Amino acid sequence: MAEWWRSAVLYQIYVRSFADSDGDGVGDLEGVRSRLPYLRDLGVDGIWLTPFYPSPGADHGYDVANYVDVDPQFGTLADFDALVADAHELELRVVVDIVPNHTSNEHPWFQAAISAPDHPDRARYIFRSGRDGGPPNDWTSAFGGSAWTLDEGSGDWYLHLFAPEQPDLDWHNAAVRGDFDEILRFWLDRGVDGFRIDVGQALYKAPDLHDVHEPEPRTPYADWHTGINQPELHELYRSWRSLADAYPDERMFVGEIVLGDQVELATYVRPDELQLAFNFTFLFQDWSATGLRGTIERTLAAFAAVGATPTWVLENHDVTRLPTRYGGGEQGLRRARAAALLLLALPGTAFLYEGQELGLEEVDLPDAVRQDPIFYRTKGERVGRDGCRVPIPWESGPPGFGFTTGRPWLPIPAEWKELSVAAQTRDPASTLELYRSALALRPRDEPFAWRETAPGTLAFTRGDLLCLVNISDRELPFEGELLLASDPAAGDVLPPDAAAWVRIAGRSER
Ligand code: NOJ
Repeated sequence: MAEWWRSAVLYQIYVRSFADSDGDGVGDLEGVRSRLPYLRDLGVDGIWLTPFYPSPGADHGYDVANYVDVDPQFGTLADFDALVADAHELELRVVVDIVPNHTSNEHPWFQAAISAPDHPDRARYIFRSGRDGGPPNDWTSAFGGSAWTLDEGSGDWYLHLFAPEQPDLDWHNAAVRGDFDEILRFWLDRGVDGFRIDVGQALYKAPDLHDVHEPEPRTPYADWHTGINQPELHELYRSWRSLADAYPDERMFVGEIVLGDQVELATYVRPDELQLAFNFTFLFQDWSATGLRGTIERTLAAFAAVGATPTWVLENHDVTRLPTRYGGGEQGLRRARAAALLLLALPGTAFLYEGQELGLEEVDLPDAVRQDPIFYRTKGERVGRDGCRVPIPWESGPPGFGFTTGRPWLPIPAEWKELSVAAQTRDPASTLELYRSALALRPRDEPFAWRETAPGTLAFTRGDLLCLVNISDRELPFEGELLLASDPAAGDVLPPDAAAWVRIAGRSER
């Protein structure tokens, strides 16, 4: 129980794409509730739900129009309460997404803000006069184009680091801060175990809004420089932490803090700030032994220096699916399976994204069905994130695959029949069973130590468990009792692009 989040595995549910209970083709909370036993049997410790709040859906829920309710498309507050109760009954934690950087343009605050130039709610957002007939500065939106849109009523411009339908809040405004304290309390009172903070590095902007010359097109998850990572954030997160610490049962914050420098990242997880922060350098590391070892070492050192728990993530709803990033096809899947054993052997907290346990690839969707604002704002130059958001296949059979009795909001590829949960369950060679076994055997508190190993390979121990990852093109011999391997051909050698967990005798090296 103590500091449960320190060695947890949290499973990310992209609510639209997980399970649909009412046949409208879009996943919902009741669907999630019906699949909780699957998650308990998979062996995860909790779930992170992406936004299910009332939203016009310009960015599929990351444009929130009401922070304290459930969008009818996803259910009701009563459904949410039932979901939390069932999850807790099954000993699964529930983490919800909080979106404090921006609201929807349909949020009553923004509607009031644009209703009259002297409306007090205008001060909740960042309105400025233009420069030389254009926007106030050169900031670009992460989704493409300018980060400013003209408010035609007043002739001023408002800031949006994402889509124009997502106006940024001004966190220097005390009313914004007060409102979010109430929003956090609303969900804490309903029993949530924690929050994932969307765009956690960007809430405060540099007050002078200076030009930055961000490269175009933007690389997803590259560090931004648009006036973010401001010192005020640390004080805010300290106050959130003490607000949540007043509740029983250790409520947790995990920040989506997109910073490539792990030492800077770790400043957000000092003892009185957030408990966890996503570590995206690991996610974006290529399949390379030196690269992976380097990012793991830098993460462990930076987080240990502040007494924080490192986190590890390989997939989420914003990035190309792992087997595809690792080369696709058979090779991509082999590597993704090996990476699963690496991910789940590292010390700290791990995050899985729905469908990762099935080994799903990115789907190459026809343009006509794409929905991501990135695709539209960049005029197709960036295809966007729909390909990793295709609903997951539970059972064999198009079009619904057990996800829905209707038509899924994005088409599910026919070949996913063989990858459905039903098809993979009890097949010892399947990726699903590999994840199940790994989650059951996973080391939790055992000490971590690197071991000497051949070039192109990684080896470390967690107590008497040795994790070996072979990224070279040669077989890697090993000794000890083989517990689990990503390649069923592993015996006393580990083939290339494979990983194994081996029980070794005696004490681990330090
Ligand atoms: C990060 C979220 O993960 C992403 O899906 C969203 O588009 C942006 N933040 C904006 O809220």
